[in-house]
Amino acid sequence: MIGAIRSALRTGFGLIERPFDRLFSPALNPLAQLGALGFFFFWIVAVSGIYLFIFFDTGIERAYQSVEYLSRDHWFHAGVMRSFHRYASDLLVVMVAVHLLREFAYDHYRGVRWFSWFTGLPIIWLLYASGITGYWLVWDKLAQYVALVSSELLDWLPVFGEPIARNFIATGTLTSRFFSLMVFMHVAVPLFLLFIMWVHILRISRPKVNPPRALALLSLAALLAVSIWRPALSQGHADLAKVPAAVGIDWLYLPLYPLTTLWGNGAVWAFLGAFSLMIALMPWLPPLRRARAVEVHLDHCNGCARCAEDCPYEAIRMVNRTDGLPFPTQAQVNPSLCVSCGICVGSCPSSTPFRRTADLQTGIDLPEYPLKNLREKVAATATGLSGAGRVLVLACEHGAAAGRLDGTVVLPCVAMAPPSLIDFILSRDLADGVVVAGCAESACYNRLGVKWTEERFAAQRDPYLRARVPRDRIATIWASALEVRRAEVEIAAFVAEMAGKPPLRMRSPLPASAAAKSGETREPAEARTKS
Ligand code: HEM
Ligand code: SF4
Ligand code: SF4
Repeated sequence: MIGAIRSALRTGFGLIERPFDRLFSPALNPLAQLGALGFFFFWIVAVSGIYLFIFFDTGIERAYQSVEYLSRDHWFHAGVMRSFHRYASDLLVVMVAVHLLREFAYDHYRGVRWFSWFTGLPIIWLLYASGITGYWLVWDKLAQYVALVSSELLDWLPVFGEPIARNFIATGTLTSRFFSLMVFMHVAVPLFLLFIMWVHILRISRPKVNPPRALALLSLAALLAVSIWRPALSQGHADLAKVPAAVGIDWLYLPLYPLTTLWGNGAVWAFLGAFSLMIALMPWLPPLRRARAVEVHLDHCNGCARCAEDCPYEAIRMVNRTDGLPFPTQAQVNPSLCVSCGICVGSCPSSTPFRRTADLQTGIDLPEYPLKNLREKVAATATGLSGAGRVLVLACEHGAAAGRLDGTVVLPCVAMAPPSLIDFILSRDLADGVVVAGCAESACYNRLGVKWTEERFAAQRDPYLRARVPRDRIATIWASALEVRRAEVEIAAFVAEMAGKPPLRMRSPLPASAAAKSGETREPAEARTKS
């Protein structure tokens, strides 16, 4: 059931995201920048909130007038700032909702990746607490409605000695002290929210917390346009002598408020409890089969730290050497953080398939899919290639080519393949060309697999693809599981292109110096340099 919902949602996201990739470019696709946009909107809310606070009178009598004053007499700056504050808060809710759905759809919430999902739950509560206390402060008719419904909701819980709704049903009962408490909450809760947002991304390496400049400017321009077109206004002074009727509701922050009348407070709490429990339990229901974490083989680790730099999940740290080899550090894996994507295997300078030893060992390896097996699979698959234009496909298990049968070797992530594997395939005449087929560029399942692969091929990131490897013999295809047809068309075109090419003249053995660098012979780790 959950699986069916997930795959339906995934299809939905795929159908929207790929046209967005073309419209905005993969780098600027807002759906691939939801977390970063969340931080961006948070900062806009924070800055505009500080600005508004300068004008705001925190006393109950003067609060409404002060907001009116800054909206009407100061609309040019404070009014726009007020609209920024409100609309950026609304956008934050939209972003959180879409972000949550997307992370669920792409299955980024289970197994070892539970942490970011789980910490998203307090984020939702704190975000709503911030928004609701914010509506309270304006002290207009909507604020009165919010105050009344919220306090009735809270009174339903057996926590307060005296009912707090009493404060809002008659004139003269609401104290400035209570109002000041709301002001304090509206400042303190977002600060705590920021702290949890920081915790939320602790287990992610290089999290995208700033959207690309062009996207940030576009969002600012859109916010400004809406703020001028429909400035945020109050809905008339609160009057405790009258029950507020027909207030305009912010459906993003207050969707449950009308339900308190329809369902009753108990049912609304039951709904909130069930929703929170569902979010909290989802990472473990149904469980994800966990592949075993990578293991470090110290006799092949020279402490270069490339694996630690490339791991997308902060699962590797460099620690002091323990085995007496003359390197200051060694890699250490935290198995509870490792998703077994294999990206670190592709980063390790010891991961070179040229080595002649039968038991190909590397510095860091997946126990269930070691580099040795990958080399064997590549060699076995290559023997099945025939005719003109022999193309071997290295496919990510989450991308469009994962289901191919012929000429394809599937990996947990294409960045698991060290660039030397491509050199190996072409120089050993295992194929005329290699296709590297990963996830869609803006939706890499393992966050950084596509990026690292591209940078390694462009010789911008170690270990890079050596200059001697002809780039016209390699094709990269970034396509989601929904784009099987496009991937097939591109692979077929590449096969045809390879068929038209003369035989590749790289089949000579590696020069002695290169052989030494890539570890052609089995030498101890200290003899290897960072190639
Ligand atoms: C203010 C609200 C939020 C902000 C600013 C935020 C921000 C972020 C950022 C920056 C990332 C890293 C993205 C990347 O670089 O790949 C991220 C990842 C993630 N977030 Fe959020 N988030 C928020 C709310 C939530 C909520 C409510 C949930 C779900 C309950 C959630 C679930 C996740 C998950 C599952 C990941 C991915 C972790 C992974 O790839 O392993 N987030 N978030
Ligand atoms: S397999 Fe992936 S998650 Fe695990 S340590 Fe290596 S790069 Fe990190
Ligand atoms: S040699 Fe390999 S395992 Fe050791 S630190 Fe470098 S990349 Fe990591």
